[in-house]
Amino acid sequence: MWSELLPIGRATDGGYHRFTFTPSELECRAWFLDQARRRGLTLEQDTNGNLFAWWLPESGERGDAVLTGSHLDSVPGGGAYDGPLGVISAFAAIDRLRAAGVRPQRPIGVSAFAEEEGARFGVACLGSRLLSGAITPERARGLSDGDGRSFAEVAAENGLDPDALGPDADLLGRIGCYVELHVEQGRALREPVGVASSIVPHGRWRLDFAGEGNHAGTTLITDRRDPMLPFAFAVIAARQAAERNGTVATVGKVAVTPNGVNAIPSAVTAWLDSRGPFEGDVRRTVAEIMEAARVAAEAHGVTVEMAEESYTEIVDFNRDLRERVVKSLGGVPVLPTGAGHDAGILASRVPTAMLFVRNPTGISHDPAEFAEEEDCLHGVEALATVLKDLARG
Ligand code: GLV
Ligand code: MN
Ligand code: MN
Ligand code: MN
Repeated sequence: MWSELLPIGRATDGGYHRFTFTPSELECRAWFLDQARRRGLTLEQDTNGNLFAWWLPESGERGDAVLTGSHLDSVPGGGAYDGPLGVISAFAAIDRLRAAGVRPQRPIGVSAFAEEEGARFGVACLGSRLLSGAITPERARGLSDGDGRSFAEVAAENGLDPDALGPDADLLGRIGCYVELHVEQGRALREPVGVASSIVPHGRWRLDFAGEGNHAGTTLITDRRDPMLPFAFAVIAARQAAERNGTVATVGKVAVTPNGVNAIPSAVTAWLDSRGPFEGDVRRTVAEIMEAARVAAEAHGVTVEMAEESYTEIVDFNRDLRERVVKSLGGVPVLPTGAGHDAGILASRVPTAMLFVRNPTGISHDPAEFAEEEDCLHGVEALATVLKDLARG
């Protein structure tokens, strides 16, 4: 399975570029459909572009399902494991259960949620947010990609009905619980497999700096209204505010207009990501960065507008489900994470849990992301154990 998925959307530096409804991501979807068909699983695409493959019990019962899976899209230049490991492990776990003659009493489903990384339309976990009602269909329809194409337009082009985007009570009602396996994205897990306790509060904010474009050679320093300067102050302020508040803050994306070496920019748009164990500290971090950006903008004759693009409160995974998962694995480390996941979004609607596979370097969202094959196999084994236990009823 790995070998078929591995080359899709991989650049020469090894980084993955699988953005929702672009050719490489569509290829990943085709791979998913193929894996499901090969196993005789029942396919379903919901109205939000999320994919499901169901192993139904002999009774034909479709409700109270045990869902597992993850996502197939990537960040720009992402690693091979973030997302795909959970989907591949789900199919592999089903293979194991079947080989062992297990007959589930509840449906077992494999999911691939759409736009988990938000790399194309800006809001992470867009598919699971739509499914669970954590974003309004109106807002989702209006999201646009880097080329100014709206999600509604792109969704329609890919066979979805933009008017049908949004919560799906029937589908949600059929999901009894969701267990997502994911590569751990820091260095906190020292054993092959662990279980998530919580996802820290996290969000994304956009800062639009507008100044005056002009010639880099002929415009006196005193005549400039250069938006790059307050932007630079904001980046430094982000680091300092994070250090003060015990949070993290990252400016990982910036768009400069017109982006020419010999032109003073007319506008700079920057995206801020901030996370931390406590909501108050994250809010303070962002407020301090915004204030620093505002003061710096004013000092340079530049305007700045700031907007929150998404925010996810702390997610404490369902205690009963987590304890059951830990117990079925005979005791494994339980740890919080600073990374967002569809399991965190679905947690508001159905009991969810997460299994993590050790990341020996702690590198993620980078081509160097890695997990040992042996640990991945441990992950499949653990997932199969958990599914077997849960599918008993
Ligand atoms: C998604 O992986 C995120 O945590 O940003
Ligand atoms: Mn990710
Ligand atoms: Mn992920
Ligand atoms: Mn994620």
